[in-house]
Amino acid sequence: MQAKIVATGSYLPEKVLTNHDLEKLVDTTDEWILERTGIKERRIAASSQAASDLGVEAAKAALKAADLKASNIDLIIVATVTPDMPFPSTACILQEKLGAKNAAAFDINAVCSGFVYGLSVADAYIKSGMAKKILLVGTEVMSKFMDWEDRTTCVLFGDGAGAVVIAPTRGKAGILSTEIYSDGKMQDLIQLPGGGSLEPPSEKTLQKRRHFIKMKGNETFKVAVKTLEKLVVDTLAKNHVKPSDLSLLIPHQANIRIISATAKRLGLSMDKVYTNLEKYGNTSAASVPIAFDEAIKEGRVRHGDYVLFEAFGGGLTWGSALIKW
Ligand code: ACO
Repeated sequence: MQAKIVATGSYLPEKVLTNHDLEKLVDTTDEWILERTGIKERRIAASSQAASDLGVEAAKAALKAADLKASNIDLIIVATVTPDMPFPSTACILQEKLGAKNAAAFDINAVCSGFVYGLSVADAYIKSGMAKKILLVGTEVMSKFMDWEDRTTCVLFGDGAGAVVIAPTRGKAGILSTEIYSDGKMQDLIQLPGGGSLEPPSEKTLQKRRHFIKMKGNETFKVAVKTLEKLVVDTLAKNHVKPSDLSLLIPHQANIRIISATAKRLGLSMDKVYTNLEKYGNTSAASVPIAFDEAIKEGRVRHGDYVLFEAFGGGLTWGSALIKW
């Protein structure tokens, strides 16, 4: 018995924020952002939309594609670092909005690697027989935790949600392997330091802008390139899959230079790499499932294809999943 992604869905908020719009907010240029990141624009959630609102739309689309009712789902996993609130979990809020009354529900926080971490957990639940129909959602409203005065972060991120339904299969297709890793020694590279039990909300945390995302971008960049290059090579080798047998690489959409370096290390041409960061920026845990959903809808994934997911993010965390479609 193995686990298979049987359907996908995604949702992007309507509002578009372009690089030119950002030129009016901070000291930046469209050229700098495009050249250094590959991003042209990103989506921004409405003020009334929380992570669960984006997630539930992606979830509905995935359930429709799977031809399942919400009541068929027995486990909901939500990967997010922009939850509706510290508790209850966004997964429980989403469960209620979806009407998935038979599902247990919990959140995963592995920052941008959250979806790949979620796949690893879902894979284990299905293989052990502990769940039969899992809804895994990556949903983020990064814009609400962005310091719109900090040009080193606010140009990078966007909002969105992606979802998949995972079920058991006895066929040869499915999730072949998942790998997840972490290194807490580098926790200070990407953080949202305020608002937790270490720095509870106070006038001081507000004044010091501690409730916004902070990132040491250049240091993170170097670690990301090195780590992801090794990860993709090791994942394929462990599964005895040659890079030339890979049909599509679906990377976390953080920076086109990181993505190109990973592809180059595998000897993959960019037409075997799915990118949409020019439209959405870095949507953290939502980036891989949104990209996968779009790749499927564009006919980029065919029956029997090997597809490799990889992600890297705060924690630090990183991980991969190899699937046969
Ligand atoms: N516009 C114009 N100039 C800028 C901007 C901007 N928006 N941002 C920074 N700069 C300036 C800097 O101030 C610096 O100027 P200086 O040389 O005068 O000091 C110069 O540009 C170069 O800055 P670097 O930070 O060295 O630029 P770099 O080429 O590293 O690009 C970036 C920055 C895009 C953030 C890159 O480092 C990156 O993508 N890092 C990795 C991000 C990532 O993968 N994160 C993990 C996932 S995110 C998560 O988990 C939540």
